[in-house]
Amino acid sequence: MTDQNLAVVVLAAGQGTRMKSSTPKVLHPLAGIPLLGHVLATARALEPSHIITVVRHGRDQVAEAASALLPECVICDQDDIPGTGRAVEVALNALPGDFDGDVVVVSGDVPLLDADTLREFIAAHRSARAAATVLSALLDDATGYGRVVRAADGSLDRIVEQKDAAEDELAITEVNSGSYVFSARALREQLPRIGTDNAQGEKYLTDVVGLLRASGSTVEATPVAESWMVSGVNDRVQLSELGERLNRMIVRGWQRAGVTVQDPSTTWIDRNVTLAEDVEILPGTQLKGATKVERGATIGPDTTLVDCEVGEGATVKRTDGTLAVIGAGASVGPFSYLRPGTYLGAGGKIGTFVETKNATIGENSKVPHLSYIGDTEVGVGSNVGAGTITANYDGVNKHRTVVGSHARTGSHNVFVAPVRIGDGAYTGAGTVVRKDVPAGALALNVAPQRNITGWVVQNRAGTAAADAAAAADGEQD
Ligand code: UD1
Ligand code: MG
Repeated sequence: MTDQNLAVVVLAAGQGTRMKSSTPKVLHPLAGIPLLGHVLATARALEPSHIITVVRHGRDQVAEAASALLPECVICDQDDIPGTGRAVEVALNALPGDFDGDVVVVSGDVPLLDADTLREFIAAHRSARAAATVLSALLDDATGYGRVVRAADGSLDRIVEQKDAAEDELAITEVNSGSYVFSARALREQLPRIGTDNAQGEKYLTDVVGLLRASGSTVEATPVAESWMVSGVNDRVQLSELGERLNRMIVRGWQRAGVTVQDPSTTWIDRNVTLAEDVEILPGTQLKGATKVERGATIGPDTTLVDCEVGEGATVKRTDGTLAVIGAGASVGPFSYLRPGTYLGAGGKIGTFVETKNATIGENSKVPHLSYIGDTEVGVGSNVGAGTITANYDGVNKHRTVVGSHARTGSHNVFVAPVRIGDGAYTGAGTVVRKDVPAGALALNVAPQRNITGWVVQNRAGTAAADAAAAADGEQD
């Protein structure tokens, strides 16, 4: 249920210089969705009445992504005044003037902070009747972070940025995680009072804490249970470290839900993948996007599936697939390449060194070896011979091939589209099918074979082939 007294502000206006990328930092993907997507999903899970994303650098890209990820999120532009304080100030102006609840502030580049942790944090803030609560973290190496300065009695005094900190303050190992809960009223009172007279010439959000304390309000800092939860992404090393951690958590989650994962260290599962009980995942497998795997299916080894559906009990071995649907009990691979629009019916087979694209292969139909099947529909119970190529492209347009049900097409065929092969039809080995084949017909168009006896001995004298031919000839005599 929506919490009418809760707003979440996601800070995403920063530049992300250290990523060295033309893509804004918060749009770099982690487990298949942008960093910002993780944060917005967490924000939504809190069920606040308002979610505001503050943008500036890479404005259009970030705004578009935020709206696509979470349509109800309000986009708010930061102006020329720099700093986290200014970012929250513009967000506050986007809230209804009479909003008097709590404002959670989180960073768009801190993807692993989960909703349960934030819920506890909000509850602590509310039960302390605090004006501001800072989520802190205890780190071995606090370099780069704002330090949590506590008074002699242990209460929170203020936060000092690394660049503004005195020698003794730099020794503090409790840091500001960059996530907070504020009462909206406290922000309205204090943000206009913050200046830019500091080492970075920015309006620091963290200055609100010291001002509130000085005005007699309650301010608190609560350490997070585990510091990785508040780790941010500043460069690509941190991106991969968080990616590994998140992947471990995702894999473990599925193992606990009944999925066998033989080798978690080489198995990568995106956040939006769904797996049923008794799915088995073999080493070297990546399941990406919105891939869905039904009960009892075996995926891998060495398989990458992007936005695929795999039916109950199917096996998919050493395969690369995108936007493909694999039916129950079907078998794919090894070494199959399933391109978008591949539909394999229940009990069907796409075998070794087969590429498919925009192809529907019906129930119990098989394309077992060495083929390219594109823009094609195959009925049920058919077998497409080894080494079959659909010539679907005439250099300008793509054309369709239709193979009926219970057809048996020979090895090394070319189906020159547009062409239809009827139900129950056969084609001979090596047939180049240029004309429709009626149901039940056998199509043949290979020239009759001619054997010119003695040709090798006459024309290739002195070669091993000629010697072998002569010897075979002798044996026959
Ligand atoms: C900030 C905190 C610091 C804390 C650290 C945790 C301040 C002044 N300092 O420092 O105490 O330890 O986070 O990571 O807040 N952003 C904007 N607009 C801006 C500047 C930043 O939206 O003008 C956004 C960034 O996109 C980012 C977040 O705010 O998501 C934090 O900004 P960043 O520059 O990384 O803050 P730090 O200097 O690291
Ligand atoms: Mg900064």
